[in-house]
Parts: sequence; structure tokens; C-alpha cells
Amino acid sequence: MVLGSAFRLDAATLLILGALSLLLLLYFRRGSKCHGALNLPPGPPCLPIMGHLHLLDLKKPHESLMELSEKYGPIFSIKLGTMKAVVLTGYETVKDALINHPDEFGGGGRIPIFEVITKGHGIIFGHGESWKQMRRFTISTLRDFGMGKKSIEDKIIEETHFLIKMFESYEGQEFNPTIQLNSAVANIICAIVFGDRFDYDDERFISLVKRVNENVQLAGSPMVQLYNAFPILGFLPGSHKKMLQNARLNTGFIKNIMNENDQKLDANDPRSFIDAFLLKQRQESGNPNTYFHENNLLFTAVNLFGAGMETTSTTLRWAMLLMMKYPHVQEKVHEEIISIIGSERSPRVEDRTNLPYNNAVIHEVQRFGNVVPMNILRSTTADVDFKGYFIPKDTPVIPLLTSVLFDKTQWENPRAFNPANFLDADGKFVKRDAFAPFSIGRRACAGESLARVELFLFFTTLIQKFRFQVPPNVNNLELVSGVGFTSFPKYQNVCAVRR
Ligand code: HEM
Repeated sequence: MVLGSAFRLDAATLLILGALSLLLLLYFRRGSKCHGALNLPPGPPCLPIMGHLHLLDLKKPHESLMELSEKYGPIFSIKLGTMKAVVLTGYETVKDALINHPDEFGGGGRIPIFEVITKGHGIIFGHGESWKQMRRFTISTLRDFGMGKKSIEDKIIEETHFLIKMFESYEGQEFNPTIQLNSAVANIICAIVFGDRFDYDDERFISLVKRVNENVQLAGSPMVQLYNAFPILGFLPGSHKKMLQNARLNTGFIKNIMNENDQKLDANDPRSFIDAFLLKQRQESGNPNTYFHENNLLFTAVNLFGAGMETTSTTLRWAMLLMMKYPHVQEKVHEEIISIIGSERSPRVEDRTNLPYNNAVIHEVQRFGNVVPMNILRSTTADVDFKGYFIPKDTPVIPLLTSVLFDKTQWENPRAFNPANFLDADGKFVKRDAFAPFSIGRRACAGESLARVELFLFFTTLIQKFRFQVPPNVNNLELVSGVGFTSFPKYQNVCAVRR
């Protein structure tokens, strides 16, 4: 484990450490304990103030937590600065908590930087009754606007055509497809949430996409993790300031779209998620306690845009990298596509059952890519007795998805890319219980069915039309992930050669 290496990162981090030392002095006057006297889950000995921060590689905290679970078991306590959390690891434990104790482990965690940005509004970082109502409304409205239906399939197919044109324009030369993939996937969520798509060269759109992308990376940066551990140090310079600035610009952008939608609103013909929300808001205007207010609309729209774009396009980037790394897998996927769909017709969702190898590869890309490695922080809504331990109400909980997707008891060689994880001896697709990239339980991903359709249609179309090749100057393509809230491939360039 890279102990403490993250603290040698930059001047701002050093400043923070200086301030921490001051706090340390104050702390020694007061005294403290890491794990209280109750029967709390065990954990490593901790330092005053810092807690266990020195044990985490802040560039890959999920890997440090994996190592700690080897020593302290599937349930352990961890203190990250001012936050005392419980970490749940391994398929059995995570499933037991999130499926068998859905109420107790169903609270939304309070991550300081997101509390500042959203004030608990919206869905991803929402709490209590507000979260419940936003989630219910979001899922049913996403369905009304096409999630899981043919209408959205047609929109995705239309978008694949724009993406193909964009990839073709590089004529097989090396390029970084990140923005193009972000834009294509963002356009699907834009069509649902705003009622319109954007051109890939629309400057305002590109800036929005770039800021969302940057914030997802910054959210997992060492500086922002330190801020989350010690919000009191927020006055210092660092990436948390950039993140807050990006968030302000993004909410401003989406507020403008909300206003435009409001002016064009036709009660008999709602065209988007925003329209549907505005109508609900009007219906509830006489209710002073309604949760259907402007801030919940704003942050739910922001959440859908962020969650819907970044995770899906990052998964597609992993898919390309893995296809370049394992050309024999790519060729097999292509052969299967050609034999079932041919080279001209656009793939459709109904083709998926006839493409078991393709389906297995997409699942394995999601497992291996481990795009949301830490999951999203939860918290307990009541005191819980869980597997012989006591976890008090309002304890932050990390149900570590990395530990499920790489659980040695569930996967033969979890750190290797192997589509056979999802195939039986006859080459038929098999579902696996420990496949949980969307998490599980009451707060699991609200966009899973949309994401699955997007992944299938974008991936299948791209492999049908292009051969992805390692750029000529790259000798050894490394499967290393970058730092961020999502785990994205560090190496980004591709050569997309038209078939
Ligand atoms: C490959 C793509 C995706 C992955 C891997 C993914 C993964 C996740 C994960 C791990 C969570 C946290 C669940 C938990 O707390 O237990 C989550 C939450 C969420 N996702 Fe996704 N997601 C993806 C695509 C999408 C899309 C396309 C949308 C939008 C339509 C979306 C909307 C959401 C929302 C709204 C939540 C918050 C749910 C809640 O707190 O109730 N996601 N996602």
C-alpha cells in the first residue's frame, strides 16, 4: 500500500497539513477516541485528528479499503478526519446489508462538498422524504419519457449515427474520444431531461460536458477528499474551490434551460422531464410542505445529467481500451455481430439475446472497469445490530462496490479481464449475482435500464463499424485507472479504423 504518498502532492496539500498540525495541538487538549466503547465494528489504531487518513492512498482509497478488509474483516470502522464511517466489503456482507436491511442502510450519506453544492436537494445526495419523493417521481418520469421503451431506443440509434460520423472524421488517426462519447451519451439524457439534443460543436454544451467531467474527477481528488475529511479547512485554496465554481456554472446553465422550458410549457404536451416536474410543481402549488420546488428540480436535473453522462461514457471508454488490449475478443464480438445483424442494419435491443458473447463482454467490461469503485456514501437511518456489531443511527456507510466486483469468493480470477465469467459451457450468457456495478437495494442506480440499453447500442454499433487499434507509438497498453469519483482509464487515445 502506498502509505501517505498522497500527502506529497502539492502545495495546497502541504498547507492543509500545516493547518492540521495546528488542529492537532488543540485536539490534544481535548483528548479523543477512534472507536467508542460500544460493540462497534473493529478498525485499525488511529491517529488523533487524522483518524485513518494516513492509511489511505487518496489516489485509490478503494484499494486501501480492500487491503484493510483483509486484516479487519468484511465490516470495519474507519475514521476519515472528522467522519467516522463503517465499511462493508464482499458480496455476502454488502448484499445482506442493502437487501435484507434496506431501511436501516437506506439513508443518503452526507458528503461535505456535495452538501455545500446541493444542500441535500435532488436525488443522489437527497435525504429522507425529499429523496423518496424525488426518486419515485424520477423513475416514473424517466419511464414516461422513454426509459425502457422503443422511443428512447430510436433516439440512441439516431445518436450512434452522429457518433459514427465524428469517429469517421479522424480517418483512422489517433484521437481522444472522451468528449465525443460524453457528448453522445449526454445527448440521450438531454433529450429526456431538457427535451432536446445539442450539436457536438455547440460551445455552451461542450463547456457544460467538460465541467461535469472535470467535477467527477475532482470529486475523487486527494484535495477534495481532504476537504471532505476537514470541511473547516475549506477556506484554503485547492480543487474544492474549482469544483464549487464549476458546479455554480452548471446549475446556472441548467436554470436557464428550466426557465426556457417554463416559458414554452404546454400543460397538454409535456416534452421533457423538466416540463413534467414544472407541471407537478403547479399541481402542488397550494401545498406549503411540497418537495416539488425549484431547488429539487434543479439538482435532480443536474444529478441526472452528471450520473447519466459520466458513468456510461466512462464504461464505453473502458470498453474501447479493453478491445484494443484484447484484439481477439474484439474480433469475436465483431464476428458475432456480423453473423446476427450484418454490417449495415443498426443494432436493436431485441438483438441482445442473440449476441451472448457481446453481452458477456459488456458485462465483463463493467465488472472489470469498476466505474463507481467506492459506491455512493450511505448512512444508517436507525441503530442497527448487524452481524454481531452495533452501528449507531446516522453512521456513514461505504458499501464498497470494488469488493463485490472483485470478490475472490465470487469470481475465479477477479483482477483479470475474462468474458467467460458471464458464459456457460455452451457459450450461453449467464447472469451473476455479484455483478453489481449499479449497486443494489433501495438506492441502487435509478438509470440502470437506460444505461444498459445505451451501453449495448453504442458498443455494438461502434464495434460493427470500426476496428479499435492501439495507436502506433504505444508499445504496452496499460490498464491503469485515473483518480476520480469514477474510475476511468488513464490511457485515452484510440485509432478507430472503419471496417
Ligand atoms: C454505466 C452506467 C452507470 C453506472 C455504472 C451507474 C452506477 C450507479 C451507482 C453505483 C449508484 C449508487 C447507488 C447506491 O447508492 O447504491 C448510482 C446512483 C444513481 N444513478 Fe447511476 N449509474 C449509471 C448510469 C446512470 C444513468 C444513465 C442515470 C440517469 C438516467 C443514472 C442515474 C442515477 C441516479 C439518479 C442515482 C441516485 C439514486 C438514488 O440515490 O436513489 N445512472 N448509479
